[in-house]
Amino acid sequence: DAVDTAPAIVVGSGYGGAVAALRLGQAGIRTLVLEMGRLWNTPGPDGQVFCSTRAPDRRSMWFRTRTEAPLAAFLWLDVVNRAIGRYPGVLDRVHFDAMSVYVGRGVGGGSLVNGGMAVAPQPAYFGVQFPTVDTAEMYATYFPRARSMLGVNTVDPAWFESTDGYRFARTSRKAAANAGLRTTFVPNVYDFGYMRREAAGTVTRSALAGEVIYGNNHGKRTLDKTYLASALGTGNVTINTLERVREIRRSADGSYLLAADRIDPAGAVVGSRQYSCTYLFLGAGSLGTTELLLHARETGALPALDESVGTGWGTNGNVMPGRANHLWDTVGADESTIPVLGIDDRANTANPVFAEIAPLPMGLEHWISLYLAITGNPERASFTYDRATDSARLGWSAAQSAVSVRMAKNLFDRINAANATIYRYDLFGSAGKAFADDFTYHPLGGCVLGRSTDAYGRVKGYSRLYVTDGSLVPGSIGVNPFLTITALAERTMTRVLAEDTAS
Ligand code: FDA
Repeated sequence: DAVDTAPAIVVGSGYGGAVAALRLGQAGIRTLVLEMGRLWNTPGPDGQVFCSTRAPDRRSMWFRTRTEAPLAAFLWLDVVNRAIGRYPGVLDRVHFDAMSVYVGRGVGGGSLVNGGMAVAPQPAYFGVQFPTVDTAEMYATYFPRARSMLGVNTVDPAWFESTDGYRFARTSRKAAANAGLRTTFVPNVYDFGYMRREAAGTVTRSALAGEVIYGNNHGKRTLDKTYLASALGTGNVTINTLERVREIRRSADGSYLLAADRIDPAGAVVGSRQYSCTYLFLGAGSLGTTELLLHARETGALPALDESVGTGWGTNGNVMPGRANHLWDTVGADESTIPVLGIDDRANTANPVFAEIAPLPMGLEHWISLYLAITGNPERASFTYDRATDSARLGWSAAQSAVSVRMAKNLFDRINAANATIYRYDLFGSAGKAFADDFTYHPLGGCVLGRSTDAYGRVKGYSRLYVTDGSLVPGSIGVNPFLTITALAERTMTRVLAEDTAS
């Protein structure tokens, strides 16, 4: 088989992959990015690149015949999910025994489907999670760099108070305040200037038209418009799409050999390609990178990988509850899909929770307050390699999710008591379920910084092999993670380009 050779290869084009690609390209190093998803730049028959959450079609999900939205039901009716055709859609839900993980698929990874919240953790918590990282340098250099590159901006507080799109957030803020809880504004990569023009009716609606988890057609500064556009602009970076890296080996001369499956739009593997490179950067996300390295260690391809590869995985404490408001506490029929407020109870050391006030954009008044709670759940799990199925199994248990539920319930019981309100029991499938505890948006860990790698993401046991994505974060960061992932990747690339690639 012919082998394509590049000085550097980056696996995955999410945050970690995009930062690596740009900085390598700027350093004059010819770089190939391998991404299993497609490039989202071509309009479908309806003239739109992405479909809306309200009318999902085959573009919504990664090779499914039915959508699997986080909210399965409304009034116990299965009105949310739809039959769709199999296609390399933008959102995947990866199922393990007791936990499923949502991830973005496509050029831009999670940036294509996420809520855009760009939050830095508290420095003290960052320091606990990353004892080998200089916290002061992170907050002085790498967090600001990540914010500026990602195009982070904030909602104008006066407009926030007056616009119908954030009625839901104001209602949830009031309920929290009644319980003595503080809310805080959260920066975002969605262009709030664009959102204001949406509200004014002068541009095509996106955040105000229910678009988010299946992609935004306008307004959101996704990685393909920021880091990756700049990376391509260096002239040194190429992105191959619909190519899924299956295995990594090392040849006798120390270069890395990769085998990738080519996927066609129907999901069939239509061929295999071999690549080789001197420098290999893994940005396939917490699941993707961990699976590749675990596979490499357990099959003997990279036997010197550390025992810690596959451990330290967590859900960032994610759990999603809904509350029923009183009839006079409306949330509005035109919710913006972009969250801008969080209930901040992280100072409660016995029960730390940061709860994103989440939209539920159904296009009608439903009186529901929805939240994505990020609890300080200390539980972690490991992946094991299952030889029979040649796949990774995740050891996360339902009992470990119950810890997140207890912590979130602690907070939301207080809010319900102070407001004489109750949970919504009809949103998450089985009757009586008030907390969606079987999925996470924030998979973290598996190849933890300072354990499976050195303090800069250099993988232990091998040279010129790096991890730059969410697998470096030990299971929890206390807030939404992509800003931290981006900043850590910037830090790694600064060090690696200074020390490892100079000839
Ligand atoms: P990421 O998952 O972004 O990228 C990995 C890429 O690698 C993907 O494109 C994938 O297709 C590709 N890949 C994987 N395996 C591969 C293989 N073997 N071969 C080739 N390619 C491969 N965070 C936040 O901070 N604020 C927020 O508001 C939200 N909201 C949110 C909503 C939803 C619905 C989701 C699903 C997630 C969020 N997140 C979030 C989480 C955030 O999106 C996530 O933490 C980052 O995207 C993770 O970045 P990484 O670089 O680790 O991987």
